[in-house]
Amino acid sequence: MRILAIETSCDETAAAVVDDGRHIRSSVVSSQIDLHARFGGVVPEVAGRAHASMVVAVVEEAMARAGARRHDIDAVAATIGPGLIGSLLVGTSAAKGYALAWEVPFVGVNHLEGHLQAAFLEDPDLVLPAVILLVSGGHTLLVGMGMGDDAPGSYRLLGQTIDDAAGEAFDKVARFLGLGYPGGPAIEVAAAAGDPQAIAFPRGLQGQGLDFSFSGLKTSVVTWVAKHPDASSADVAASFQEAVVDVLVAKAREAAEATGARAICIGGGVAANTLLRHRITEAAAADGRVAFVPARAMCTDNAAMVGATAWYRLALDGPTPLDAPVDPALRLPLAR
Ligand code: KG4
Ligand code: ZN
Repeated sequence: MRILAIETSCDETAAAVVDDGRHIRSSVVSSQIDLHARFGGVVPEVAGRAHASMVVAVVEEAMARAGARRHDIDAVAATIGPGLIGSLLVGTSAAKGYALAWEVPFVGVNHLEGHLQAAFLEDPDLVLPAVILLVSGGHTLLVGMGMGDDAPGSYRLLGQTIDDAAGEAFDKVARFLGLGYPGGPAIEVAAAAGDPQAIAFPRGLQGQGLDFSFSGLKTSVVTWVAKHPDASSADVAASFQEAVVDVLVAKAREAAEATGARAICIGGGVAANTLLRHRITEAAAADGRVAFVPARAMCTDNAAMVGATAWYRLALDGPTPLDAPVDPALRLPLAR
């Protein structure tokens, strides 16, 4: 089963050709970072227009790199939510157009499920039950997969942020420190030259269950810098990153312990963070669990994860009707 997948939920125009939900034949990601950088964040209208001008070229590039022709494609998939409505509409309309013209099924994919499935793309030997820490610009979730007698394709929501997403905290603090956009990679670079123990920033909701809070940490960075205007921004970045990773790893570990999970996985853009990748691997090993840490390119937005998820969902639910709408606030399918 060869699937052409399209992802346009935020600021990457991406297309991929994936065989049997596992074998990535091509994965093309065209980033709009340069378009949004001068605004310090993603501008929805700019994103939608850029997707519209890029999507056909990106699809053609993915098809060419895979050596695929239209009659090789068995289904066409696209992210239908969550995300920016104008951006979602571009990728979804394109995918429906290809599906209609090529007379193959269309599959609408949940972007969050895509990030969850990315953890298993390169390592198909699923170890269940698993806890997945999904940390992106828009979401911070602890998700249980394969727990109890949960139906395949349903997930448990074990914890979530009560305010900012982890990636959003990176982006806001980076902007405040003048480090640029997107914030995650900028903080990571600045932090490399700093001391992570220099400043004891707060760990939100530590020891208080599985929910997260990052807005206090962000305020605390702003307050601290106001009091210490000459402080090194490398130390601030390193101490901030340490605080975020500390709390992410502690809660993922607690969730795995509480649910008897055999594996811990990470996904979403923040899972590209080197410190988080190290710490989660160490923590899993220390607790006798398997760690799934996807390649960086599979953590940030891409269409290969959409193709993998589409294959799985097509087998479970069948095709998505061509009149299915996009849903900017789509949630994960929850167990029970
Ligand atoms: O999953 P993603 O590409 O898009 C969303 O679905 O949101 O995640 C983007 C987020 C941004 O907030 C970005 O700053 C963060 O992931 N990010 C990182 C790193 N790379 C990207 N955060 C920390 N460290 C990184 N290396
Ligand atoms: Zn994402």
